Amino acid sequence: MRIAVFSTKTYDQHFLQQANHEHGHAHELTFLEPRLVEETTPLAAGFPAVCAFVNDRLNSTVLRALHEHGTELIALRSAGFNHVDLETADELGLTVARVPAYSPNAVAEHTLALVLSLNRKIHRAYNRVRDGNFSIEGLLGFDLHGKTVGIIGTGRIGVIFAEMLQAFGCEVLAFDPYPSAEAERVVDYVSLRELFGRSDVISLHCPLTPETHHLIDAEAVSSMKDGVMLINTSRGQLVDTIAVIEGLKSGRIGYLGLDVYEEEENLFFEDLSERVIQDDAFTRLLTFPNVLITGHQAFFTREAITNIAETTLANVSAYETGEGTVHRVTSEKLA
Ligand code: NAI
Repeated sequence: MRIAVFSTKTYDQHFLQQANHEHGHAHELTFLEPRLVEETTPLAAGFPAVCAFVNDRLNSTVLRALHEHGTELIALRSAGFNHVDLETADELGLTVARVPAYSPNAVAEHTLALVLSLNRKIHRAYNRVRDGNFSIEGLLGFDLHGKTVGIIGTGRIGVIFAEMLQAFGCEVLAFDPYPSAEAERVVDYVSLRELFGRSDVISLHCPLTPETHHLIDAEAVSSMKDGVMLINTSRGQLVDTIAVIEGLKSGRIGYLGLDVYEEEENLFFEDLSERVIQDDAFTRLLTFPNVLITGHQAFFTREAITNIAETTLANVSAYETGEGTVHRVTSEKLA
């Protein structure tokens, strides 16, 4: 199938080409650097399949334009699909496929990296030592052993993260409207309120839905323990940035680790080092010594990218031949 691949980086090209080679060059890949937004939809004209990533904009206008230009299949190279207007896709008869699980380990391990780095202030120590400053004043951490960690969302990533925390000797609490027997082996389910009130570290592993938008707002922050560590490797809009900035200023939030950001689509995955960042909330976050931000790289391991490329092309092949599974998402399934 002819596939227009949007938001292409060198690694996308490399791993997709490799997967296509293993597929016997079943697909014709056209790599496009721009993000898929209203203005760039003409680039997809005549392509039956479009491959998109998390910061591509698949709203109603874009989907209608793609449909008009002959696109039938949207192959997401991500697990999350909150950036797709599924109702419009269904209305137009567009098939939307995703990569349901490529490496939950990659995200769980990055989450742990944020927790440990923030706690032991590795980001600050790194700079100090390079600057010949060997003072350890201000680098005091705490033992993770014996601490209480609250996990919101006990799906694939949440459970793996919980297992890791068990090895550290943490008490692991969790909230999920759909508790699982698998998770119950390693977590104690509690209400969201109890989780906020008892956790020393809170980590978000639920999807972004209308219900979870700004799950962490001013009220949630006010019900957390003083000095709590908050980690978000899930989706930016789960967190109300302004409420969190207030929480950091008051000291209620003692540490903040983010791999995702509310308004990341205009920032992440690009080199903006020569430009003036216009997002004042983001630049405020950068001023706190106890905030550590990575630019949506939790998924970024060799294993995960290989799986993403293989499943993306397998979805396209299954759609084309009718054999195998298209990992479809529909608005009905979401409901
Ligand atoms: P999953 O679908 O296996 O698990 C999600 C869990 O969240 C489910 O158990 C579900 O019941 C639960 N959930 C749904 N609504 C909830 C609510 N209101 N409160 C609490 N829990 C709720 O998903 P998986 O694979 O574990 O991924 C979790 C999230 O991680 C994804 O939705 C995605 O946004 C994010 N992600 C981030 C990546 C990164 O690079 N930073 C890469 C991959 C995923």
